[in-house]
Amino acid sequence: MSQVLTEVLFIQEGESVPPQDLHRVVAYAAWHSLAWLVFANAVGVLLALMLIFPAVNGWLGEWTYGRWMPVHMNLQLYGWCSLPLVAFLFKAYGADRGAAARWSRPALWVWSAALAVGSISWLTGHASGKLFLDWTGYARVLFPLALLFLWAVLGMATVRGWRSQHFATWPARITKIAGLALLLLIPLLLYVASNPALYPPINPDTGGPTGASQLESVLVIIAVLLLLPYGLTKSKNGSMRTGALAWGVFVAEALLCMALGRGDISHHRPTQYISLGSLLVWLPLTPAYYSTFVWHENTRRWRVAFLCWWCILVPTGWCLFLPGVLDHFKFTDGLVAHSLLAMAGFVSSLLIFVLVQLLGEDGWIFNQRLSFYAWNASVFAYVLVMLYAGWREGNDAAFSLVPGLVRNVIYTTRLLLGVVILAASVEWLKDATRLLRANKQAAQGTGQSTAREVVG
Ligand code: HEM
Repeated sequence: MSQVLTEVLFIQEGESVPPQDLHRVVAYAAWHSLAWLVFANAVGVLLALMLIFPAVNGWLGEWTYGRWMPVHMNLQLYGWCSLPLVAFLFKAYGADRGAAARWSRPALWVWSAALAVGSISWLTGHASGKLFLDWTGYARVLFPLALLFLWAVLGMATVRGWRSQHFATWPARITKIAGLALLLLIPLLLYVASNPALYPPINPDTGGPTGASQLESVLVIIAVLLLLPYGLTKSKNGSMRTGALAWGVFVAEALLCMALGRGDISHHRPTQYISLGSLLVWLPLTPAYYSTFVWHENTRRWRVAFLCWWCILVPTGWCLFLPGVLDHFKFTDGLVAHSLLAMAGFVSSLLIFVLVQLLGEDGWIFNQRLSFYAWNASVFAYVLVMLYAGWREGNDAAFSLVPGLVRNVIYTTRLLLGVVILAASVEWLKDATRLLRANKQAAQGTGQSTAREVVG
């Protein structure tokens, strides 16, 4: 199984493309996603400031907290968290080279332009009100169109590369065509799901997601975790057993999820929290699975980081869902802590790991020791203080609303940690900008020197 998938998706081997050409499109995608990260983090700092100094709301006229919130969350998701996966798709479909590469940069700009239009629409008070599906009006059409443009670039790379070694075998062709078919559904689904009248099943005790839908969404993340290595590298010899075990467990859990059915159901039902607990098996399995692949040495730091965040996220996420615990934390800062742990901790370090692997030698832009520790330590501290705030809020619903000494210390600490997180992201953006300049110089020069040499 793993041999076939490697053959299907692994596309770098044996190519005689200069390294700076191979990484240029990926470096652009990294730059776009980092630019959105910096902007979204700056908005995060503004939000944190507004919570501690409400007068700031007044200075900004109609652009108050409620309008900046969707900007912050959507730019983190559709800007920072999505564009590294676009880079992955460019690589997997060979759109990072040849004629398709010329269209990959415009695709990134169209994507960013749609995000900018979205941000303006949220700031001017137009939002569907659905978390992460706030698209409405022009933005609801423009963003799916940006996705379609990207799809067309991937389609073009597929047609042009049909006779190349990347599509040499029928499994490779079928997998990539199936991938394209699935990707084509996303713009449509996004448009439809942004309809405020459409809702998924809910947990009647909390108004939040059910155990079955939580399991379903985590299984999607696990499917991504299992597939990612095949588009990034090759497996080590003799590592078949761990791979087969991981895929076997995945299939078993998918069957369990289907058996749970869909519909409104409480988290007090043992079947809900016990089945969600089955995810704990991924604590040892994920690191074991990733150790069966060959990784670029530059990825080490972020590989360890994302696996550590995963090992914190899965058990704490499960504990949060347990009867009694969820009832205490629901709609408190405890869930803000969980969201940040998931997105700024686990997802962000996974995405940086992916970018570093795609960038290879150029992955140094994420490997400065200070920004690495500043990011991870501040996110960890942020999670702890918000968890504590959530605990207090669970005992006293007015805790985070009415200014008091402990509440103010917690919110000021969050603001300061936010500034450190923002600073780390600015550092990466600066380095990514230097890399783009260096790539340009290297391309204009002899073509022999690598970007790292030019920067150095
Ligand atoms: C500069 C660092 C950051 C600061 C200061 C910050 C600040 C904030 C603030 C004040 C909120 C509103 C919390 C509330 O509802 O009371 C929030 C929510 C959120 N932030 Fe950030 N943020 C930062 C970075 C990030 C990053 C890097 C991500 C994701 C990659 C992220 C994702 C989210 C999400 C998903 C929520 C919604 C939480 C929920 O309601 O469950 N934030 N952030």
